[in-house]
Amino acid sequence: MKIIAFVGSPRKDGNTSKIINSLCVGLEENNHEVEIYNLSDLDIKGCRACGACQSNKVDYCSINDKMTTLLPKIADADCIVLGTPVYMLQVTGITKNFLDRLFPFFVQSDHSVKHLPGKKYITVTCSGAPAEAFKNVTEYLNTLFSDHFKMENCGNIIAGGLLTTDDIISHAEILKQAEDMGQKLS
Ligand SMILES: Cc1cc2nc3c(=O)[nH]c(=O)nc-3n(C[C@H](O)[C@H](O)[C@H](O)COP(=O)(O)O)c2cc1C
Repeated sequence: MKIIAFVGSPRKDGNTSKIINSLCVGLEENNHEVEIYNLSDLDIKGCRACGACQSNKVDYCSINDKMTTLLPKIADADCIVLGTPVYMLQVTGITKNFLDRLFPFFVQSDHSVKHLPGKKYITVTCSGAPAEAFKNVTEYLNTLFSDHFKMENCGNIIAGGLLTTDDIISHAEILKQAEDMGQKLS
């Protein structure tokens, strides 16, 4: 399978990144083709609500930034991995910009979704507070991906108690959970 993974933390070597790396090790051991993007490198602009994606004026989006190449890649992938730290009780701003820019996959005229239904997805969330405290963030992502995009949930990794970039190293069970999830994805 073709898998495209997004890290929504500005810390490139932080906890979210380390969990996604372990997941991707498992995916590659399982012979999947994986591409990882750090959203913080991509300067993804916020949606301007211009409406062009809902007309026939553009293929995907009128904003000319990295999403111009990512949107067709997402449409072509079999599985999407999205990891985000919890910032102020929700996904990070760069993650939210990215999610807003998936609007071209909605077809407002008939409330359908194109390209995404049937694809698999995995989410990763990291928080400073214990994992139970921010299940709402995972629920939000599941509502978006499962209920709205009609994608198949292949796993949610929820990691808490993580403050410094290396805190996840002392939670070997979570890194193993991530690698196992990658090895088992089919
Ligand atoms: C601006 C900011 C806001 C944060 N807000 C929360 C929060 O609301 N709840 C929480 O538990 N942790 C919060 N944190 C802590 C991060 O979620 C946590 O350290 C996470 O593991 C960081 O992931 P990373 O290492 O991948 O960057 C916040 C951190 C920052 C920098």
